[in-house]
Amino acid sequence: MTKKLHVKTYGCQMNVYDSARMADVLAPLGYRLTDSVDDADLVILNTCHIREKAGEKVYSDLGRLRPLKAMRRAGGGDLLLAVAGCTAQAEGAEVVRRAPHVDIVVGPQAYHRLPELVARALRAADGAAGPGRGVVATDFPAEPKFDFLPQPTERQAVSVFLAVQEGCDKFCTFCVVPYTRGAEYSRPVRDVVAEAGRLAALGAREVTLLGQNVNAYHGAAPEGGEWGLGRLVRALAAEVPALGRIRYTTSHPRDMDEALIAAHRDVPQLMPFLHLPVQSGADRVLARMNRRHTADDFRRIVDRLRAARPDIALSSDFIVGYPGETDADFAATMALIVEIGFAQAFSFKYSPRPGTPAAVEPEQVPDAIRTERLAALQDLLRQQQDAFNAATVGRTVPVLFEKRGRHPGQLAGRTPWLQWLHASAPERLIGSTVDVVVEATGPNSLAGRLAIAQSADAAA
Ligand code: SAH
Ligand code: SF4
Ligand code: F3S
Repeated sequence: MTKKLHVKTYGCQMNVYDSARMADVLAPLGYRLTDSVDDADLVILNTCHIREKAGEKVYSDLGRLRPLKAMRRAGGGDLLLAVAGCTAQAEGAEVVRRAPHVDIVVGPQAYHRLPELVARALRAADGAAGPGRGVVATDFPAEPKFDFLPQPTERQAVSVFLAVQEGCDKFCTFCVVPYTRGAEYSRPVRDVVAEAGRLAALGAREVTLLGQNVNAYHGAAPEGGEWGLGRLVRALAAEVPALGRIRYTTSHPRDMDEALIAAHRDVPQLMPFLHLPVQSGADRVLARMNRRHTADDFRRIVDRLRAARPDIALSSDFIVGYPGETDADFAATMALIVEIGFAQAFSFKYSPRPGTPAAVEPEQVPDAIRTERLAALQDLLRQQQDAFNAATVGRTVPVLFEKRGRHPGQLAGRTPWLQWLHASAPERLIGSTVDVVVEATGPNSLAGRLAIAQSADAAA
């Protein structure tokens, strides 16, 4: 019997990947995806715990689902509610205490067990706390979940995610990820190449290799020993030629080794764009964050990357108002940004997270100052992003078309530098990389025209 599954994803790309895998895991039980909660039999909220706002969001969403569940049950039906992801891992049974109508709490390393958890929830009576079954699975199993996940079988998007590494051993003082995702783990090379091959056979043309610390990758090699990410990228480029584009995220400056930098020089499929979080430009702050790199280390890495691949564009993450951050520290961050020049970046006000060392630092920066610094930093980053986009106008760039655009007859695709671009183009070009003349920049995407006009009905 088919049942309907609705998955809402919060947070990072790893959660996007996990959400798709959860749907795969539940497909043999007859669950098919639906976009709306109203006809769902099972709703999964795949949560993020990185900042306070993210952690709290799930409870407001759960509040909205409570009357829906009550209504279903009043009518003799049912609605299973599952909370997955990093908040589930961090809070465990506390989720059920705060939201007693939740049936299942499942962490990022336990979701391959969803069929069993769903069956248990369906058999169970309401929990002691309320109208939910309170099935909690937040263990870190000895066997990695990847060994239990079914392989994708359905038509894939043009651009897909592939988790190659998970977890983090770095323990930056502000960050919950080492606690929610667990210790660092790398999938064996053979499994990654096989999955990439399958994704390509199912239509994918671009793969983004994912990991919380993706460049710490050290997977078991086919003939013994271990390979780093640079070597893995070379293997994927050689063995899965249908993947015209390879990307990876998120990297840590500490793990930006020579082999990976050389891959940027030698592997044309590896796109000239790198998201490399630096967090701060002040060494004092970086040391207190336990980042184990200095601002100069970051500058040197960028120099080497640019020497290897002159057109590489950079993205980063910044935290403002880390405990003890002074005006001079913040000025050092602004100076670093001016010096490097970023194509885009993400920036956040420091958010104290329970259980992390920074949360109990005495010198918390007042919110008004954090807000002020964030505004100044985002202003600067916005200018750099606008300048970067403007510099592409007039150039001819290869665009991989991914989907239909907003207007009829239009497609949307990405440049090598991860910019969205819209152009009038026939639908058969979805999945193809085509030269496009960039004509204008807009707030969220570039606009262009095909360098060589294509007729709508020509054979592909
Ligand atoms: N290496 C990770 C980083 C995850 S968190 C990855 O795979 O993406 C993404 C970003 O969130 C971090 O780089 C950092 O800039 C920000 N962040 C993490 N903890 C934070 C906190 N407590 N307050 C504000 N921002 C935070
Ligand atoms: Fe968090 Fe630092 Fe690990 Fe990134 S490297 S996930 S910021 S602890
Ligand atoms: Fe959020 Fe967990 Fe990703 S905390 S950013 S969903 S690793």
